[in-house]
Amino acid sequence: MMMILLALLAVASAARIEIEVAAECASCVLFDKICYNVTHLLDLQAPFRNKIVIHKIDLLRYENRLFYSFEPTIDDEEYYKIGFVNLDDQNISGVINGVPKLVVNIGTFAIDQENRRVYLGGDGGIVLLDAKTNIVVPYSSLGDDIRSLFYKHYVYFVRFDDRGVIVKKGDYFKTLLEYMPVKTFVVNKNDVIVFLNSYGLYVGKDAITHRLSINAFFRGLTIDLDGEVYTWWIDGIYRVVIDKNLYRSKIVKVAHLTSIGAMTFDNENNIIFTMDKSVYRLTETKYNCTII
Ligand SMILES: *[C@@H]1O[C@H](CO)[C@@H](O)[C@H](O)[C@H]1NC(C)=O
Ligand SMILES: *[C@@H]1O[C@H](CO)[C@@H](O)[C@H](O)[C@H]1NC(C)=O
Ligand SMILES: *[C@@H]1O[C@H](CO)[C@@H](O)[C@H](O)[C@H]1NC(C)=O
Repeated sequence: MMMILLALLAVASAARIEIEVAAECASCVLFDKICYNVTHLLDLQAPFRNKIVIHKIDLLRYENRLFYSFEPTIDDEEYYKIGFVNLDDQNISGVINGVPKLVVNIGTFAIDQENRRVYLGGDGGIVLLDAKTNIVVPYSSLGDDIRSLFYKHYVYFVRFDDRGVIVKKGDYFKTLLEYMPVKTFVVNKNDVIVFLNSYGLYVGKDAITHRLSINAFFRGLTIDLDGEVYTWWIDGIYRVVIDKNLYRSKIVKVAHLTSIGAMTFDNENNIIFTMDKSVYRLTETKYNCTII
């Protein structure tokens, strides 16, 4: 009898501990085995469509200014626009318009952190926003339909319905991976290009490409401050593990977080992401995560 009672007590207290642990932080998620609290930062105030679509976010680090590309209200002549908000002072916010008759439908951007320049890509080429003055001036490839932009020492871009990634070095343009269709991409420190197209997610450099996933619906790509590449989809965040032997590269799921719109990293390398028009930050916590 005593034995049974002891056993029952043990079961009961084990169950209680489990419940206590589970109740510790309901707003937390595991990211790569570490528990993070999901903190609401702000709601973006832009003339959004009914269904809020934010394709890309990135931070101008010097000012802590978050840029985001979004689809404006249906009665707007433009399909895409870029908005911004200062994370330290939400009153500093706005929407950047294209250059009439030259570059409209600005749907993509890339930031040169060092020179505090923001390159904006639209259906008439690339324009440049001087973040100090907020003035937009024509930059390059005028007349081209720019679908994706990236900055690492140079401006890299992808044109609609074209192949490869073009890098602009002064007046000279070079096409990389000219044999592959590319929709969106990032370039890592070793010049490996991670890209998405309608066949899936790939890594590529020079003549080598390797498909990491046949899922063509990853929503975007971003690089953290340590140079790690991440992608995300409706079921969470994945790290792209790039091997020296590109064929051994792979993706690893690091967080289960549903309905992320776009994501980037703040100046402390914390993840910032959008869900609808809300912006959240993941901050490391000593608490235990509910989902184990
Ligand atoms: C998580 O963040 C919220 C504020 O966004 C805060 O109220 C809560 O105490 C935090 N929880 C933990 C476990 O840090
Ligand atoms: C933002 O504007 C509101 C209303 O004008 C004001 O009350 C608030 O103090 C401002 N915030 C900052 C950080 O300046
Ligand atoms: C989290 O859970 C572990 C194992 O269940 C426990 O040892 C630790 O004390 C818990 N941490 C906190 C802050 O309660």
